Amino acid sequence: MATASLTVTDNRTGKRYELPIEHGAIRATDLAQIKAAPDQPGLVSYDPALINTAVCKSRISFIDGDKGILRYRGYPIEQLAERSTYLETAYLIVKGELPTASHFEMWKHNITMHTMVHENVKHFIRGFRYDAHPMGILVGTIGALSTFYPDAKSIMDLESRRMQTRRLIGKVPTIAAFAYRHSRGLPLVYPDNELSYTGNFLSMMFKMTERTYRPHPVLERALDILFILHADHEQNCSTTTVRAVGSSHADPYSAVAAAAAALGGPRHGAANEEVIHMLEEIGSARGIPGLIKRVKAGERRLTGFGHRVYKNYDPRARIIKQIAHEVFEVVGRNPLIDTAKELERVALDDDYFASRRLYPNVDFYSGIIYQAMGLPIAMFPVLFAIARTSGWVAQWAEMLLDEEQKITRPKQLYLGADERSYVPLEERQDGGALETEVRGPL
Ligand code: ACO
Repeated sequence: MATASLTVTDNRTGKRYELPIEHGAIRATDLAQIKAAPDQPGLVSYDPALINTAVCKSRISFIDGDKGILRYRGYPIEQLAERSTYLETAYLIVKGELPTASHFEMWKHNITMHTMVHENVKHFIRGFRYDAHPMGILVGTIGALSTFYPDAKSIMDLESRRMQTRRLIGKVPTIAAFAYRHSRGLPLVYPDNELSYTGNFLSMMFKMTERTYRPHPVLERALDILFILHADHEQNCSTTTVRAVGSSHADPYSAVAAAAAALGGPRHGAANEEVIHMLEEIGSARGIPGLIKRVKAGERRLTGFGHRVYKNYDPRARIIKQIAHEVFEVVGRNPLIDTAKELERVALDDDYFASRRLYPNVDFYSGIIYQAMGLPIAMFPVLFAIARTSGWVAQWAEMLLDEEQKITRPKQLYLGADERSYVPLEERQDGGALETEVRGPL
């Protein structure tokens, strides 16, 4: 059977090369055979931010950005959001198949049995300043978990990987809620294993003096759906981080902490926080023309718009927009929704956004719902991290067992100074080359 291939002619040498194409990709390492001369280095591909480079073969999430499609393990996100629960979706993502009833019961039991944290974790969290950002607390504390579970180093042991998976999915909501309560000076609330995954999280966040906290079922379900929507999203920045850190065979807590750190940036998981600030800043629909003008002048970005992969409406944003109304019926309307919808209408009508195929992404509406539910802005990326933990763990394990994977170690194109001799300190002149010509990024 003829295999697809790419024929490359090197016009430096006149040589022709056949590069096999598999799954729509050539192997970047096949380029290494292309050399200007036998003693020259082989050709490399240059791809800053890995925009057109597949770094792994994966079976977890599928995205078609042009069509606005997202599937976990083949199941459309719309069906999962409508019919599944976060814990069932987490099982699907981690194990590859939807669970049978008995496996699901066992899975729920196993996660629930790991919602408690060591008492020292509490003391550790108390050590953070009173106004520490909860995302910083989360990142630090997930990293610290590796010191509580030295068995996590046995990454090639299936039982160990399963144990750390349960611990991470079980404990991250507890740490997240503790981080919030700490930042508010509130007593920490222990997990209530009688409640659902999201019900327990709401209890740990909001329980006051009542004997038992009962979450509103509409809010509990809305949060569960939001968690489903955020559970995985193939090779984004934080997932790439979990794979890269995990590729050094660091333990999974360290790898997941690093992924959470990546998620905390405003270009990634903290964008919904920025959306609220942006909407509050413009105040009402009257502020939209001014905002659009600044965006088009390149002075700022329209946060919650645009996506590296989606060049169509983000399917998650569509589902979130629907949930918003159910939440508002319970907690009252968040007036920011009106500004957001008008902003979306104006932007989608504008050639600047249309020509660049910039549509609302998952973050455009999620913050508005979280805020209406009483979840503080600083917690938005933390909520994202809770949901994404199942995806990170699944991606980490897939990477570990992939025989083609090695320690992540990309190449660079070196454009710096040629070899030069060290100049003693006393011979370097003020205002010399170092000061005037070398302007580094720091
Ligand atoms: N507002 C205005 N212009 C934008 C925006 C935006 N939100 N996003 C992209 N553009 C423009 C760029 O200026 C660029 O225009 P140009 O060709 O005239 O220079 C063009 O669209 C392409 O933009 P890139 O930066 O090359 O796109 P990239 O794929 O690198 O960026 C990103 C994707 C980071 C998400 C970007 O769209 C952005 O900054 N959006 C706002 C932040 C945001 O909402 N992030 C959340 C993403 S979802 C998630 O992480 C969960």
